[in-house]
Amino acid sequence: MSSAQVQTFDHLLQSRFSCRGYLPQPVDRGTIETIVEMAQRVPSWCNSQPWMVHLLSADARDVLSEKLVQAALARAGKPDIAFPARYSGVYKQRRSVCGWQLYDAVGVTKGDRAGSVAQMMENYRFFGAPHVAIISTPKDLGTYGAVDCGAFVTAFTLAAQAHGVSSIPQAAVAEMSEEVRSVIGLAQDRDVLCAISFGYQDPDHPANGFRTQRAPVSEVLIDVEAS
Ligand SMILES: Cc1cc2nc3c(=O)[nH]c(=O)nc-3n(C[C@H](O)[C@H](O)[C@H](O)COP(=O)(O)O)c2cc1C
Repeated sequence: MSSAQVQTFDHLLQSRFSCRGYLPQPVDRGTIETIVEMAQRVPSWCNSQPWMVHLLSADARDVLSEKLVQAALARAGKPDIAFPARYSGVYKQRRSVCGWQLYDAVGVTKGDRAGSVAQMMENYRFFGAPHVAIISTPKDLGTYGAVDCGAFVTAFTLAAQAHGVSSIPQAAVAEMSEEVRSVIGLAQDRDVLCAISFGYQDPDHPANGFRTQRAPVSEVLIDVEAS
């Protein structure tokens, strides 16, 4: 790899962000297929390539959106894959920081319950994205299958970014696994992992007006010496 190529890759990693406001303009089919093909280059245990990508038409997207809103209002969500039991310590703190970054960007103030619920509900209209893909993983492959699919999700977001296409993974959608399953006709032997909403970013949308930070390397890279 030349240093220019390394720089290009770094730029890709630095410029990707979770987009929460889109223009209606669709992404052409060829570009979507290229993004999926590129994302498929990620490693997976035994090269099992366990991901499946159900791409919703505009009509199917709207049907799912309506079902998700209804399920959310009825608090009827039940994910196939258990959601995190709790965020404590540094994870709680990081979650809070990025949550407040979003709220500050869209003007939700402390105690504004209606505002925070409205922003949460944006998940169920896919933040206005023209495209929604549902990523699923085979039940039999368990946690490692989900790890492989997670790698695919990340690569999808980067391949999309390389094409000027913005995206956001959404576990919130996976909470309503029954609704998702019924709209995409998902086989019973697969779990809904998450959605990826994608399209061209609306640069003027306030929700796109912030970027998240990362912990210093010293917090995650632990040197181990022989004892
Ligand atoms: C598996 C996964 C699920 C996520 N689910 C949601 C979600 O349901 N709603 C949402 O607004 N963001 C969701 N995100 C986006 C994260 O909040 C985001 O990646 C994180 O804050 C870091 O910000 P960045 O992607 O802009 O770098 C999800 C990200 C991942 C990887």
